Amino acid sequence: MRILRRTVLKTLAAAPLLPLITHKAAAAPRAVTLTAAPAKQRLVPDYPETEIWGFNGAVPGPELRFRQCETARIIVENRLTEETTVHWHGLRVPNAMDGVPHLTQPPVAKGGRFVYEFSLPDAGTYWYHPHLRGHEQVARGLYGAFIVEEREPIRVDRDVTWVLSDWQLMPDAQQRGDFDNLMEMAHAGRIGNTVTVNGKFTAADGTFAVRSGERIRLRLINAAVARIFLLRFPGHEPRVIACDGQAVEPHSAPADGLELGPGMRVDLVLDCMQAQGSRHDINDDANPRRVQRVIALAYNDEAPLRSKPLDAPVLLAPNPLPEPDLARAVRHDILFQGGAMGTLREAELEGKRLPLSTLARQHGLAWAINGITVKEHAHAPLLTFKRGASVVLAMNNETSWPHPIHLHGHVFRVIARDGRPTRYREWADTVLMGPRERVDIAFVADNPGDWMFHCHILAHQHGGMMTVFRVT
Ligand code: C2O
Ligand code: CU
Repeated sequence: MRILRRTVLKTLAAAPLLPLITHKAAAAPRAVTLTAAPAKQRLVPDYPETEIWGFNGAVPGPELRFRQCETARIIVENRLTEETTVHWHGLRVPNAMDGVPHLTQPPVAKGGRFVYEFSLPDAGTYWYHPHLRGHEQVARGLYGAFIVEEREPIRVDRDVTWVLSDWQLMPDAQQRGDFDNLMEMAHAGRIGNTVTVNGKFTAADGTFAVRSGERIRLRLINAAVARIFLLRFPGHEPRVIACDGQAVEPHSAPADGLELGPGMRVDLVLDCMQAQGSRHDINDDANPRRVQRVIALAYNDEAPLRSKPLDAPVLLAPNPLPEPDLARAVRHDILFQGGAMGTLREAELEGKRLPLSTLARQHGLAWAINGITVKEHAHAPLLTFKRGASVVLAMNNETSWPHPIHLHGHVFRVIARDGRPTRYREWADTVLMGPRERVDIAFVADNPGDWMFHCHILAHQHGGMMTVFRVT
């Protein structure tokens, strides 16, 4: 298993303190409808169509695009054979719009609908997906990109979104139906055998056409339920300009690979400076034994748009995020335990201490946060914060597995890894912790309500690696 990159100290000038989040509706909302239903889609060329569950008949579902400060109204129609909800991953929405079944809303019954409406204080790259039995509903294809455009975007020639995912396909191109597989739950989660970019398998000979000289803003979204991508772009030097939708000091993507855990997003500026007619693979190096091609950039024969990379700024304007006050922050230790090859012997479920073997066999659980494991989204909060409080969470991954940890309703700074300050102090809503790694995050608890905090390897979440924080 790859060890996450350690970084060195570099402080950024502190941003001014901003007022607490307010959810006031601006202009009249713009409405879109998302219908969740079974569908068929050819994921792999020359293979039969795969039965999927998709929004508006496809995977990924439609890319929703709004402008910063607009109000979005999204009508969700449930045409599945089971309940669902939709969560707006990374968006700072009011609690009642967060899409967590039983915790923030009743599930949307089959045949039912729910209208979500929220304003969009932050620009960036986000996504949406169900939060009910996500380990199956997301794996079957229910997700899509949610882009909030800056009021003054940076200059690029094209703005492109790639929703990355993977599937566990059998030779007939259908998915294995064992979404509740205990073995996967206690290990790395359900990692597929077929990677797709925007719902197409492109590893064999799929290409993405580019023109020499053009600058692309490439928005990468990892919608896979378990796969961690480690992307390399030989022949290119993409620059990272945003993490999880939030501006970051522009920097080159690490030469040893751009790490993207489930739920995470990265915005890249990609200058396509290779020759007309050439082809360049984009690879996933996450598995050290087998470099996997994801897709190839195929340069067309048009004359180069320019001979040197576009000379225009790539720094994004920051979103109005409140800066945590580290000196006054309340500090909590968060311990992640469990899984195969772990230290967890027993954990508390609904007030009872049970041995791990019982939890696994009788309840399908194998993970705990601060000694507690849960089956349902709605439960007593692990921690309660006063609205406006600065919070530091000192997270300790005592397991043998990496975990992308996601917080709802807030955006946090990743301030330290294994006790060492991070180089970019990046804002994020999902942070990847390596096995046995410690990661410190900081945020202002300014959004009232009950918020999920969980692993985005969705089998881990389903297996107990989730909890609730309350902001009052
Ligand atoms: Cu993207 Cu709680 O999830
Ligand atoms: Cu996990």
